[in-house]
Amino acid sequence: MQALILAGGEGTRLRPLTLTRPKPAVTLVDRPFIAYMVDWIARHGITDVVIACGFGSDAVREALDDGRREAPRLRYVQEPEPLGTAGPLRLAADQGMLDDRFLVLNGDLLADLDLSALIRAHQDRRAAVTLALHSVQDPSSYGLVRRAGGPHAPGGSATAAGGEVWGFLEKPTSEEIDTDEVNAGAYVVDSSVIQLIPRGRMFSIEREVFPRLVGRGLYGHRLEGYWMDVGTPERYLEASWDVLEGRVRTELGDRLGGAGLLVADEATVDPRASVRPPALLEPGVSVEADAVIDRAVVGRAAAIGEGATVSGSVVLGDCRVGPRALVEGAILAPGAVVGDGARIGAGSVIGEGARIEAGSEIEAGARVDPGRVAS
Ligand code: GDD
Ligand code: MG
Repeated sequence: MQALILAGGEGTRLRPLTLTRPKPAVTLVDRPFIAYMVDWIARHGITDVVIACGFGSDAVREALDDGRREAPRLRYVQEPEPLGTAGPLRLAADQGMLDDRFLVLNGDLLADLDLSALIRAHQDRRAAVTLALHSVQDPSSYGLVRRAGGPHAPGGSATAAGGEVWGFLEKPTSEEIDTDEVNAGAYVVDSSVIQLIPRGRMFSIEREVFPRLVGRGLYGHRLEGYWMDVGTPERYLEASWDVLEGRVRTELGDRLGGAGLLVADEATVDPRASVRPPALLEPGVSVEADAVIDRAVVGRAAAIGEGATVSGSVVLGDCRVGPRALVEGAILAPGAVVGDGARIGAGSVIGEGARIEAGSEIEAGARVDPGRVAS
């Protein structure tokens, strides 16, 4: 079975992380984000992956080629301009890359849903499209799916996993929300659907294809398990702890076996520093005396100064956090520098190579652009 990953979005809500590299190539815990997806689908027998990229496709390719095992086979389609969520299917099909039936995945998912069950459900019903459905508390930022047998359908029951879809509403308003099931951004597509997609222009599968398939072979299949759209800094941080603590099934989580702590042999931690899980300290990291690392990722060759605190934060490779600095609930892109005693507020995202001057205070939720000097 084959999969096409939609990896060409701009990742606007994750800026400035996504200003210097495309979202699929942004590091999550210890590897490029898209590597988790490739592992996930490979566990369900996908042997052939087509990645649809817009800007930065070279970075995605490099990120994935780096230290990779052989399977599955990876190929890339590059869009001359963004084609939305449907256009890339048409482009890949026109380039002869797609089989009669294939899986499509949004490129920003961290999940361990049972894709094998989804594929089986699709085959059993000879559907045009079978959407993986997941239950969320607030469907407003997703695609709402109403289906026969769904939890709130007339005569429906919450236990029936699958059913024909009778309504698809992308980004529903609060009045429109009448179920908790949304499009999980993973679906099996029959190639007959490609003819609904025009060539060479932006086209939305959620707004312009799925609604048209209602009553014409659009099915939904609810899957339990871990599922997260890692589209915002808050969810990026949450996803990091979920990987470390094994709430989502991943290769790294399996290796850590629930301990949530990995300190590389090649990391140097002063005996007077304290490291509390969940935490990952990668090779080349140095942590000086009296520093506190509490619920954090510290990437390759990053240096944490004496008495500094890094808590609930991700500090990517080559960053420097000066003595007595306080980094709380923040994300530091590679190579960022935090001066002595500076304080970085919760929810801040500091761009690649940016510098926060000593003693300054960066307010909660701030965004500092790559390479900028902020005080
Ligand atoms: N190649 C390509 N080209 N990919 C694109 C483009 C494009 O022009 N535009 C968006 N994408 C990719 C994004 O990179 C992302 O992986 C995926 O398509 C979905 O886009 P998002 O911008 O993340 O959409 P969303 O999260 O608001 O909503 C989508 O995902 C939800 C689940 O997370 C929809 O599919 C919803 O229906 C769904 O519930
Ligand atoms: Mg998304």
